[in-house]
Amino acid sequence: MKKLITTCLLCLAPLTASLAEDGKYHDGDVVLDEAMVPPYDLPPVLVTSEGKAVKTPEEWFNVRRPQILSLFGNLIYGIVPSPELPIQTTFEVLKTDSGFMGGRATRKDVKIKFANARGSADMTILVFTPNAAVKPSPAILQLSFANTKDDGHDVHPEKPGFLRNGIPLSEMLQRGFGYVVVSQGALVRHNEVEFQSGIHPLFYRTNQSFPKANEWGCIAAIAWSASRALDYLETDRDIDARRVAILGHSKMGKTTLWAAAQDQRFALAISAQSGCAGAALWKRNYGENMEKMVTRFPYWLCRNAWKFVRNEDDLPVDQHMLLACIAPRPVYVHSGVDDTWADPRGEYLGAYHASEVYRLLGKKGLTSETSPPVGEAIIQSDVGYHNRPGGHSIELFDWLKFLEFAEYHLVKK
Ligand code: GCU
Repeated sequence: MKKLITTCLLCLAPLTASLAEDGKYHDGDVVLDEAMVPPYDLPPVLVTSEGKAVKTPEEWFNVRRPQILSLFGNLIYGIVPSPELPIQTTFEVLKTDSGFMGGRATRKDVKIKFANARGSADMTILVFTPNAAVKPSPAILQLSFANTKDDGHDVHPEKPGFLRNGIPLSEMLQRGFGYVVVSQGALVRHNEVEFQSGIHPLFYRTNQSFPKANEWGCIAAIAWSASRALDYLETDRDIDARRVAILGHSKMGKTTLWAAAQDQRFALAISAQSGCAGAALWKRNYGENMEKMVTRFPYWLCRNAWKFVRNEDDLPVDQHMLLACIAPRPVYVHSGVDDTWADPRGEYLGAYHASEVYRLLGKKGLTSETSPPVGEAIIQSDVGYHNRPGGHSIELFDWLKFLEFAEYHLVKK
């Protein structure tokens, strides 16, 4: 396989070198100037692949949404293959600490184990629940870059109410929310290129040792793990599994959208600075593009996605259609002004164009094509958004807006 990757990267290299010459790209071969954004057409979200207008919620749910999910599955993220041998899943509560954060929360470390005759893999998730709140509690499930096994998830020694890794846990507890951490690296490596460890071998068919071109890359595998965490939460009486908001930043923001688009049990999705393959539109071609994505991270997406390198125009989908698959459940998109690699304007437009489907389903979407002023959050809409000054991170300001959105839609409304 290594050979295939090397060959493929080599065949992309000359294309990269010629980008600046054809006048289309600049700033080191990506567009980072609004004036250089090429004209583009978005595929219509409410027209079926057969060219028929989608006019009712039934047509959306029965025809168009499945078509769109299949396109994203087969061309962008990769579908989850059907394992040849059934996989047994078991849940084990490894530890319970009911006196966490001075008795304000209970922390459970839960091991989810997968096994069949091909092998086994496991992930440990953390579940924090507010001791003083009415149970079962709604929860924020964060897809995290942090490893739940070597922590950072203990109480911050100097910042009261925060976890050592900076998560404002008390803000969640105060609003009656639980907090669940699912680690991205549990079942698949961050920049996986070999697919010989973790969850993959359990899924392989006889004579298979690598995902097929339309089968899951890293993002799809992590999205699958989020659904397995939700399977556990459905058995945990302290959590209301019907009110779980999934949240992630950057690569995990992309994963959040793919997980929520497919698994309708997620009640709400918050996608922070997800950029390329997240909320940002491919066809705008601003900031990171398909070429950058697959050359730097060859298997975050599936292998079929490589066909669209410098050819995003040929994609039969764009990312507004992914967000639309989350409808009618609320979705929040977050950008940072200086996070140009992730294309803040493209992220807004992804959310804006998804709003068409929210309206068809009787929900509130974004109504203006113009991005809102920096620092202003749109909360009381089923498609929410904010862009704040600064770069690629989740700041306390962002957390507060995310929680406001989750509380408004899952508790107050
Ligand atoms: C890289 C990558 C982005 C991604 C980011 C992250 O910058 O190009 O697409 O969002 O890493 O996950 O932090």
